[in-house]
Amino acid sequence: MIGLSKLSAQKVTIPIITQNSAIVLQTDNENRVRTVYFGEPFKNTNEYSDISSLYHYADTDNGIYNVAYTPAGTWNISEPAIQVKHSDGNTSLELKYVSHKQVVVNDNILLTSIILKDPLYPFQVTLFYKVWKKENLIEQWTEIQHSEKKAVLLQKYASANLYFTNKNIYLTSFHGRWAKEMQPSENKLTRGIKSFESKLGTRAMLLQSPNFILSFDKPASENDGTVILCQLAWTGNFKYDFEVDTYNNLRLIAGINPYSSEYTFPPNQVFKTPSFIYTISNKGIGEASRNLHDWARKEKILDGQGERLTLLNNWESTFFNFDENKITSLFKDTKELGVDMFLLDDGWFANKYPRNSDNAGLGDWQENVKKLPQGIAYLAKEAKKEGVKFGIWIEPEMVNPKSELYEKHLDWVIRQPQRPEVYYRNQLVLDLSNPEVQDFVFRIVDNLFTKNPELAFIKWDCNALIYNPYSAYLNKKGLPQSNLYVDYVRGLYKVLERIRAKYPKVPMMLCSGGGARCDYEILKYFTEFWTSDDTEPLERIFMQWDYSYFYPAIVSDNHVTDWGKQPIKYRVDVACMGKLGFDIVYSHLNDNDKLFCKQAVSNYNEFKDIVWKANLYRLVNPHQNDMAALMYVNIDKSRAIMFNYLVNFRPQFTSYESPIKLNGLDADKKYHIKETNLYPNTSSTINPETIYSGDFLMKIGINPEVSLQRTSVILEITEVQ
Ligand code: DGJ
Repeated sequence: MIGLSKLSAQKVTIPIITQNSAIVLQTDNENRVRTVYFGEPFKNTNEYSDISSLYHYADTDNGIYNVAYTPAGTWNISEPAIQVKHSDGNTSLELKYVSHKQVVVNDNILLTSIILKDPLYPFQVTLFYKVWKKENLIEQWTEIQHSEKKAVLLQKYASANLYFTNKNIYLTSFHGRWAKEMQPSENKLTRGIKSFESKLGTRAMLLQSPNFILSFDKPASENDGTVILCQLAWTGNFKYDFEVDTYNNLRLIAGINPYSSEYTFPPNQVFKTPSFIYTISNKGIGEASRNLHDWARKEKILDGQGERLTLLNNWESTFFNFDENKITSLFKDTKELGVDMFLLDDGWFANKYPRNSDNAGLGDWQENVKKLPQGIAYLAKEAKKEGVKFGIWIEPEMVNPKSELYEKHLDWVIRQPQRPEVYYRNQLVLDLSNPEVQDFVFRIVDNLFTKNPELAFIKWDCNALIYNPYSAYLNKKGLPQSNLYVDYVRGLYKVLERIRAKYPKVPMMLCSGGGARCDYEILKYFTEFWTSDDTEPLERIFMQWDYSYFYPAIVSDNHVTDWGKQPIKYRVDVACMGKLGFDIVYSHLNDNDKLFCKQAVSNYNEFKDIVWKANLYRLVNPHQNDMAALMYVNIDKSRAIMFNYLVNFRPQFTSYESPIKLNGLDADKKYHIKETNLYPNTSSTINPETIYSGDFLMKIGINPEVSLQRTSVILEITEVQ
């Protein structure tokens, strides 16, 4: 502990400092905590206490906008961070500074906590700021406690309430729908409140991603300018309010969506909000992404610095139409292709209502005896004989009304008992606020592993959102329905916690009919996620590019499929910029395509470590150019891999005229550049003998010679010893 300040009339200044940024909080004359600075750190830390005296905000006319956690029902007239109804029905809240402490976790991590209390009610909020200095990353959350006589109704309970005095702020948000996830849109924030949110419950990111970028003074750019990359790490409904106030400053409130979520909160417990995570850079989004990726691999993603399995999936090659022979024949393809694992997708289960389409069987997790008479254990054994690993698809939170589970446990299903059911993909969501349902979901996974110890991988799907939110369990317990959205997500985390306690390392893919669910809280339990069902390679370049702002390539599952008209080389090259997989009928490929794929898998095995674990530099943005280029550079800058893709196929476009400046290399090192993933019987136009200095490559660059004849080019850049 390096500091402890007591309740005092004197101003208390609390700097929250990373290597390149500072947020300064300070108490005012009323002992409220205000945000007085966001910017680059000062040389002389004593000067932080002088900042506020130079701002002359007329609190009485306009309200107090810069309070660090704004309560509702007293002096505040702007959007609150917290709003409550006390146990006696009173709706006022005041929060005053009591104390703070800063704990050094290690050389890089500092945890600041600030206790605020209501002078009238026994109600307390602690603000937490966990700082990773080197990564310029802050994880912020709050803990709410009270000792009132009865439960308090939490009506709004944000994770963070930030304040920026910078003018001209640009917001990039990411919107979507099925197969169109992560579509960016950048706008200058103007007066008033702009909000974006999710109300979908499960599959929460389907229409709106919880990731966004703020850029100060100008639109966001790759290598310069102050930007923040942000995310609420919560696998459910979220809401962001961006309020440009009367001083033209920005108030940002981030947290669980208060929509239909007034939470009944008993005394003497701790309500912990999810983390709001943000990385700050003064050198553009490129540096911010690299810091976020580093942090995520080290701190959040399950086995974030480990290995991943390349795979062949049968979803698009068979859909529901397969049997034991078909699947075992695909093991041979898996082996020949050279990937690590075969992944059996949807359709393997349910007997009374067989899972032969998406309208039946979900919830009945017994092998379908017609399709798989010898069960999963047999398949796992056969895969092993073939020398490949075996993984399996589940969608454990969901149920088809046409299922035995629905017949037996209607009270486990989220539905309004008096109203017609509303389906998404013919299915409904199970009520994970109910501990019995949590147990059921845990057992689906546990049974699979207990019966099939060879099982190497799980794909965990989630295709429906919540309509008709109503929990029979909460009703039975006398708890309000408005606890459901929060308790659902907490129930999901409890199940995942149990799974990971028993099976700490088995790789699991998070899937939500594509990329409709992914954040840094749930990634504590998953090794990767399925970015989108849209695998059309041209679309994928854009999508993977936009995901890359927030997620490192090691978590991005990219599969080669038959979507689109591009040749196999282009499709494989695009999938190589993340974790490579295939979902094609390998045996239907012609001989050259087969040869190419096998060679590409073997090449990928040579460079995958760089893609998964090294630093990403985005070079040519496909949103603004006729091509995309990006590269990954290893830590000692001795090896890099560069991906180049044509994205404009109009016939007038013949070749890329100028060289592309590389980034992240060592100016003093010498490199040679070799093209890899060449299609059989083609040769490269790049001379592997030429030696370039890192300085030259970063000032002039290399021309990958992308053209209509060379639509994708992968270059290996290696230090000459
Ligand atoms: C949706 C997923 O995104 C697909 O990859 C596939 O697993 C299907 N569900 C199976 O129903």
